[in-house]
Amino acid sequence: MYANGLVVRIFPTAERAAAGLARDIAAGLRRKPSLVIGLPTGRTPIPLYRSLRELVSAGLADFSQATTFNLDEFLGIAPSDPRSYRQFMERHLFTGINLSRRRIRFLKGTARDPLAEAARYERAIARAGGLDLLILGLGANGHIGFNEPAPALVTFTHVCTLKPATRRANAEWFGGRVSRVPSRALSMGMGTILKSRRIVLLATGRDKAPAIRRLVEGRVTTRLPASFLQLHPSAEVWLDREAAAGLSGFAERAPSRVRR
Ligand code: GLP
Repeated sequence: MYANGLVVRIFPTAERAAAGLARDIAAGLRRKPSLVIGLPTGRTPIPLYRSLRELVSAGLADFSQATTFNLDEFLGIAPSDPRSYRQFMERHLFTGINLSRRRIRFLKGTARDPLAEAARYERAIARAGGLDLLILGLGANGHIGFNEPAPALVTFTHVCTLKPATRRANAEWFGGRVSRVPSRALSMGMGTILKSRRIVLLATGRDKAPAIRRLVEGRVTTRLPASFLQLHPSAEVWLDREAAAGLSGFAERAPSRVRR
């Protein structure tokens, strides 16, 4: 039970967490076909996106009226570049679901004026009526989107400078070469994130356990941007056992649903 209001759900495996979240999203789409969904990239959501593609093929999920906004994109990387987050999403999700191309929204990494691009994105999210559901991944250092630990956080979509650890974590998309990972990116800001009506952070694997412990049981601090989810009225943290391993009392409770 977490007094800070976070709902924590712990699943036996990463696959089960992903499949559960895919079913939850499909149910959300049935309740509101025009759902506006914020989406992350990274290794963590890959099984989620696979499950969503399977649900669509089975006729159990319908994205035809939905709109998606991705969280972030590398600065200087074109949308058509295979290393872009845009192409990651094409490969892992967009080509396998019935989402209208017109309703796929993305930050453009090669925008001539990145600040204007950030402002355009904020307006686009507002025009879509805000995010109904935002799915988040988690950086091992506690970042969400590309909002890195810092003395202060930025409210709106903005240009961010990536920490060396974050560039290392993203090297996989750049042929394993950290030096090729851009040092800057565009990302939704903390305010953009916290304005979403519902947030689900998905974290799996033992690498995330220390950050999960601080996120769920620590205090709210700009040194762990994800800790701000404690302030959100409808934030959930979905974990596999490995990511949950650092939570106090996990051993007695798992697998279970922990509610305030
Ligand atoms: C990147 C993304 C984040 C993502 C994080 C974790 O830095 N910008 O949005 O949550 O990676 O990635 P992974 O799921 O691969 O651990």
